[in-house]
Amino acid sequence: MSTRLWWVRPEDFQASPAALALLNTEERQQQQRFIPPAKRHEYLVTRVLVRSVLGEMLGMPPEALTFVRNEWGRPALAPESMQTPIQFNVSHTDGLVVFLVSTESEVGVDTELFSRAPKLLALAPNVFAPQELSELAALPIEDQAERAVVLWTLKESYIKARGMGLALPLDGFAFSFEAGRVSLKVEPTLQDDGGRWQFQWQRFGSHCISTAIATSNDQIQGGMESVAVDYAEFCKFSD
Ligand SMILES: CC(C)(COP(=O)(O)OP(=O)(O)OC[C@H]1O[C@@H](n2cnc3c(N)ncnc32)[C@H](O)[C@@H]1OP(=O)(O)O)[C@@H](O)C(=O)NCCC(=O)NCCS
Repeated sequence: MSTRLWWVRPEDFQASPAALALLNTEERQQQQRFIPPAKRHEYLVTRVLVRSVLGEMLGMPPEALTFVRNEWGRPALAPESMQTPIQFNVSHTDGLVVFLVSTESEVGVDTELFSRAPKLLALAPNVFAPQELSELAALPIEDQAERAVVLWTLKESYIKARGMGLALPLDGFAFSFEAGRVSLKVEPTLQDDGGRWQFQWQRFGSHCISTAIATSNDQIQGGMESVAVDYAEFCKFSD
């Protein structure tokens, strides 16, 4: 399969007993802990999306899937559910839940509203690498807001693909945007080759979605084409 990105707008998803029945006890308890109704709903939508897509791919009932988390909190299928190697990552923010799935590559995904740009510009000196800051400052002022959101989501997609979250220092790797192509340089201490990743970002209504997809040596040596990310709307249970 190509790498597929499933998306759903929580407002289009109807909560129902059938949807709730897919969650395990721990997830139902976690869902109840969210006070704002929108966040509670977002959590439900995320769990239903993740379980439904993986259940379909594995030919298993979605409610039977079990998960484990690594030491930095990244979820993966538990060995008893992992009948086919599947890599995935989820991101949720106000108005959108996205789920990136691949049978071949390590993946990471992040989404944010473009309206978060002022907050990210204020945080920029603390979260962007020196090279990213100088490229940002060199842009015309009207382009800086978009770049801040794109950069932030790309950086999050990378730390999520690595599975380490904020344990990776955000100024230890830097994105560059030359000739419309996104490339990554990683400090040696982070033990990675930025060239093994493909990054894409996309404006999706009022959201930005960024993806990180690891590529194999074969793909790199063969003059790698862009890895296609196939976008698919998730609408199960929405009737
Ligand atoms: C997990 C993390 C990497 C991303 O969190 P986030 O951007 O707040 O949230 P997202 O919705 O994009 O991602 C959350 C999902 O990532 C997954 N996740 C959790 N830990 C992860 C890790 N170490 N690696 C990869 N994925 C992880 C989980 O599936 C989680 O959703 P779930 O708990 O509902 O299953 C977090 O450590 C992080 O970076 N937080 C930064 C938040 C911040 O500083 N914001 C301020 C600027 S706006």
